[in-house]
Amino acid sequence: MPIFSALGLAAALTAAPVAAPDTLEQRIAACLACHSVKERGDAYFPRIAGKPAGYLYNQLRHFRDGHRHYPMMTYMAGNLSDAYLREIADYFSSQHPPYPPPPPGSGASATAAQVARGETLVRQGDPSKKIPACVACHGTALSGVEPSIPGLLGLPSDYINAQFGNWKSQSRRASAPDCMADIAGRLSDSDVAAISAWLGRQTPDAAARPAASIALPLPIACGSYPAAAQGGAK
Ligand code: HEC
Ligand code: HEC
Repeated sequence: MPIFSALGLAAALTAAPVAAPDTLEQRIAACLACHSVKERGDAYFPRIAGKPAGYLYNQLRHFRDGHRHYPMMTYMAGNLSDAYLREIADYFSSQHPPYPPPPPGSGASATAAQVARGETLVRQGDPSKKIPACVACHGTALSGVEPSIPGLLGLPSDYINAQFGNWKSQSRRASAPDCMADIAGRLSDSDVAAISAWLGRQTPDAAARPAASIALPLPIACGSYPAAAQGGAK
């Protein structure tokens, strides 16, 4: 797979996406206009590089098929075949650029107590509210799990907050049972803010890769994790 470098990025930045690009190289260059580490002055664009390919593929299908909503992403994935989306997902999954420092975002103003609450929720959950530890599925290093659970580091706080809002309003959906929608329903807005403030402060290890597997059963079943790996009580 060739490396699409600065040349492609420059082309993407000068050519506004008025017409849909029609080669893989052009499409990837267009993606980098928003998803490149160089563009991370913005506090909202999620990092896609290095995430498990199955996860990226699911998200591209979800934008295309109306299970996630963001006009530019719907446009980018619209009308592309599953095979083409898979190819794009494989490309970004294999990329491991360095992480920029965490962007300033809404999490920057969190108090020390809120940040500590966020860390507790991520590492231990809150059994009194039936909130499982995030690490139970996203991995102890939070670098995700193959093939379809994403890493949580390197994501802007504002992006994380927005995703929990989307699960609560059902404008982001995954295959049933939709474990993240269940978890979002158990988290208060202040707990979400605490989690995103803590996650947004971590400096990820560029050498980290998604784990090959995770201890089973998962605390809640997830339709987007393969059937053989299902299980778990509520
Ligand atoms: C104009 C900016 C822009 C462009 C161009 C763009 N994206 Fe996105 N992308 C976004 C934003 C913003 C989001 C988060 C949307 C949301 O809130 O759900 C996103 C989300 C995603 C996600 C889900 C990320 C996650 O962690 O769940 C994937 C995968 C993705 N984009 C891939 C692509 C690919 C592949 C291309 C090129 C074909 C592309 N994007 C082009 C802005 C863009
Ligand atoms: C039972 C397993 C499980 C647990 C526990 C869990 N997650 Fe997830 N999470 C998933 C799966 C599976 C996905 C992928 C969903 C999809 O395909 O849209 C996901 C996706 C996400 C995403 C989307 C990332 C992106 O790039 O858009 C965020 C953010 C997230 N989880 C945060 C959390 C937090 C915070 C916690 C702890 C409070 C948590 N998760 C606990 C399984 C889990």
